[in-house]
Amino acid sequence: QAYPHYKFVVKEVPYTRLCNTKNILTVNGQYPGPTLYVHKGDTIAVDVYNRGKYNITIHWHGVKQPRNPWTDGAAYITQCPIAPGAKFRQKIILTTEEGTLWWHAHSDWLRATVYGAMIIYPKLGTSYPFAKPDAEIPILLGDWWIQDIVEVVDELFLSGGEGNYSNAFTINGQPGDLYPCSKQDTFRLKVEKGLTYLLRIINSAVQDMLFFSIAGHNVTLVGSDASYLKPLERSFFVISPGQTFDVLLEANQSPNHYYMAAKAYTVAAKGVFDNTTTTAIVEYSGNYTPSSPPLFPYLPEYNDSHAAVNFTGSLRSLADEEHPINVPMEINSHLFYTLSMNTVLCPNNSCSGPNGTRILASVNNISLVDPKIDILEAYYYCIPGVFGTWFPDFPPLFYNFTAEDLPMNLEIPTLATEVKILEYNSTVELVFQGTNLLLGSDHPMHLHGFSFYVVGVGVGDFDNEIDPLKYNLVDPPLSNTIIVPVDGWLAIRFKADNPGVWFMHCHFDRHMVWGMDAVFIVKNGESPDTKMSIPPSDMPLCRKPVPITSK
Ligand code: C2O
Ligand code: CU
Repeated sequence: QAYPHYKFVVKEVPYTRLCNTKNILTVNGQYPGPTLYVHKGDTIAVDVYNRGKYNITIHWHGVKQPRNPWTDGAAYITQCPIAPGAKFRQKIILTTEEGTLWWHAHSDWLRATVYGAMIIYPKLGTSYPFAKPDAEIPILLGDWWIQDIVEVVDELFLSGGEGNYSNAFTINGQPGDLYPCSKQDTFRLKVEKGLTYLLRIINSAVQDMLFFSIAGHNVTLVGSDASYLKPLERSFFVISPGQTFDVLLEANQSPNHYYMAAKAYTVAAKGVFDNTTTTAIVEYSGNYTPSSPPLFPYLPEYNDSHAAVNFTGSLRSLADEEHPINVPMEINSHLFYTLSMNTVLCPNNSCSGPNGTRILASVNNISLVDPKIDILEAYYYCIPGVFGTWFPDFPPLFYNFTAEDLPMNLEIPTLATEVKILEYNSTVELVFQGTNLLLGSDHPMHLHGFSFYVVGVGVGDFDNEIDPLKYNLVDPPLSNTIIVPVDGWLAIRFKADNPGVWFMHCHFDRHMVWGMDAVFIVKNGESPDTKMSIPPSDMPLCRKPVPITSK
């Protein structure tokens, strides 16, 4: 087929940041990686060549990939990694997505440097639901680690502790003015007074939610996760790893230099975290003497969870005639998933966490173990012994989930590879319940293969009787990643109309590798166009082909 196609060559290239040069893994030598420009409804193909020394996969974050989990890119969930020297042609099937998404490596923590933007324009002949901006600028928030990212992950497992933080946050790959050796390369956004700019903001950071603001200006959020929002004016907002916001910036202030800045939002770290701030400069054109340093914006305290929950709760779908919403009203599957951080004893207390333990994370007290053969392959080829189908369901009634201590059966997680089976076209309501184990944390939960409506969010334990009465079923935001608040709950709804194997996980990579993941298998429907497609011919499979031996 003649899809437009692109070439991604994964390779190591030296980059210098924070006075230090090191080799980082890149796509086509670029950091951040190349931007993909597409239109709503397009199908494209990307040829991924692995010329690096690590196994890798690439994921198209937020692209639903109807009936085609094969090229979704989640390591050991939908494929084996692409080995060094190998190549994989990945088809990207866009349907309803319109706005900003991104792509990133989805194996170990390689996404720290292997990521880029995906800009999805309206179909030709249609337009934005707001006045056409004068210019559009991708703003990729990220982080920089002085240490090699592979070593960081190894140490995390050896130490069993929480003590791994990036050395800088970045805007379009640059730490900005406030970091050593970084001033000169600070990202500069040149603006003309009177014009409007569409900022396509992505948080690609490995571990951190971020507060974001521009000095002297309010911004108007008009989209999130490639779906339109009712315009929401804010002086700052919070963005989690995995989330995207389309934001209008009107250059309507007196000509000057204004900082755009981002810093960590965290409630779990209790003071131990990267408390630095990344900056870029919004520079008005014209003849004037700019403030030096540029004007600095207000950002909330690092642990201002009130500001964060408030913001998440204020998002609304545009939900107008051209952008109707379709929230499932009758629910077939009510799921209730607890999100916990736990510790387990290591053999002979051998780990270096508290009392010889190490940290795990879990969903319904199952800490997901990556199988040796990816789940999609095992499912499609009926390979036994790879995964179980007894993912536990918890009732929302029995426990005080946000108490300091929980019953033992909630505290000791089971290491397992269990999946949840969903019937084709069934409607699902999933309530995430945060717990307080190990002080708790917010969790930016991300689902592959779907966008979901965020119908409710609250603090404390979910109340099965009362909370559903307060759901927003009129204009809930449509997302693929959303922050489940610490000590709180969040409810989503979606229709399981995409047959395949789909990953769901916390988008903090630390929590993901510790097991805060779940896997859905959505069964095929009856008719041919409701069944999973067949695997591409160059699919990186885990099961080695059986050698033909002659006797
Ligand atoms: Cu942004 Cu499973 O990924
Ligand atoms: Cu998490």
